[in-house]
Amino acid sequence: MVKIAASILNADFGNLGREIKLAEEAGAQLLHLDIMDGHFVPNLTLGPQVVKSLRPHTRLPFETHLMVTDPEKFSTPFINAGSNLILFHIEAVPRPEKLLKEIKTGGVRVGLVLNPPTPVKTLLPYLDLIDQVLVMSVNPGFGGQKFIPGALDKISVLDAERRKRGLRFEIEVDGGVNPKTSALCRKAGVDILVVGTYLFQAKNIKEAVRSLLS
Ligand code: DX5
Ligand code: ZN
Repeated sequence: MVKIAASILNADFGNLGREIKLAEEAGAQLLHLDIMDGHFVPNLTLGPQVVKSLRPHTRLPFETHLMVTDPEKFSTPFINAGSNLILFHIEAVPRPEKLLKEIKTGGVRVGLVLNPPTPVKTLLPYLDLIDQVLVMSVNPGFGGQKFIPGALDKISVLDAERRKRGLRFEIEVDGGVNPKTSALCRKAGVDILVVGTYLFQAKNIKEAVRSLLS
């Protein structure tokens, strides 16, 4: 069974505590926090203080997706704010071993993220060091974009690679996920779907969760 990570990027930022509760009650298993620095991507979102304020509002694990130029500077503040998993981009840190180890030493899970133009082979040397791979199916920066189908091949390659090497990292996809693209991703071997717009703009969020899983 795949898991749903609710992305609050397109939720009501005036009522984040309530929005998170709704997503949790609807059946999301993870909360996906999109952190943007206005430099690595052309948008700005949340800092560690906001993440810390959200922590008491839910029991869901926090996965923190760092879309920032210097994840080395920001991983510790987000761990201290209550993150359970830190995801950073291979495009921002092409030699990620040191930071991967540092984050693990901080006592949380760690994952690498791949932008649509970046080939999947750039991640292959690091698969035994990580808990999760996040395959971007949109160019990062904004919610509500259209799914880029090239992500499906990357998911299949990663799934084949983990079987071949007996690894246990989870595969997650982020951007443009709806019932149709969810079915394609599940077929390709995905474990976790990041869903923003489709959940938070739905009339009935419980029904939206169900339709992503069936
Ligand atoms: C995009 C973010 C995603 C995105 C997902 O930069 O990383 O998490 O907000 O939202 P939807 O589901 O709207 O594509
Ligand atoms: Zn994200």
